[in-house]
Amino acid sequence: MKIDELAALVRTIPDFPKPGIQFRDVTTLLADPHGFADLVGRMAQLAQPLDPQFIVGIEARGFILGAALAHAMGAGFVPVRKAGKLPGRTVGIDYVLEYGTDRLELHEGQIPAGARVVLVDDLIATGGTALAAAQLLREQGAIVLMALFAVDLPDLGGMAALEADGVAASAIIA
Ligand code: PRP
Ligand code: HPA
Repeated sequence: MKIDELAALVRTIPDFPKPGIQFRDVTTLLADPHGFADLVGRMAQLAQPLDPQFIVGIEARGFILGAALAHAMGAGFVPVRKAGKLPGRTVGIDYVLEYGTDRLELHEGQIPAGARVVLVDDLIATGGTALAAAQLLREQGAIVLMALFAVDLPDLGGMAALEADGVAASAIIA
């Protein structure tokens, strides 16, 4: 599939979740079997040379892509979740949003020190979520090889923020 055909499978929904936000919705791409396979194949091509042990997916749509990628690559899958969702003992990180703060959590001990991980989400906007997840992983001693996204919103500067923090980042669709 050509990259512009793949990109066309992501639809834009105006005014979601708030007026003025143009929401990039990946569910239309996921529902297309060729598009889903093509996207995961492109992500695997970028991640495979890095030889990750774990794919870490960020709630919620990062679970879908992260699990598919981990399965395709023969890596383990580990979720990073919003606060209070994981049943076991957790480690977490608070991060600042436009209004207020949020918290991401990881099961304690699930990522051993020195583990080679690739971080995955559906989309990067400001980069705040991915930066927090990368910091949490580093605090556990993980090596964050790359942060990988289906869609980048380049005007919001998230990829640059990750690179400035020393996290290599790639997106399939800009
Ligand atoms: C979206 C998206 C990323 C994050 C990107 O998640 O899936 O996780 O926002 O934004 P950022 O780069 O500015 O941090 P959302 O907040 O919609 O949460 P959800 O996946 O749980 O619905
Ligand atoms: N789509 C999905 N998640 C998002 C978006 C978007 O357009 N903007 C910020 N998070």
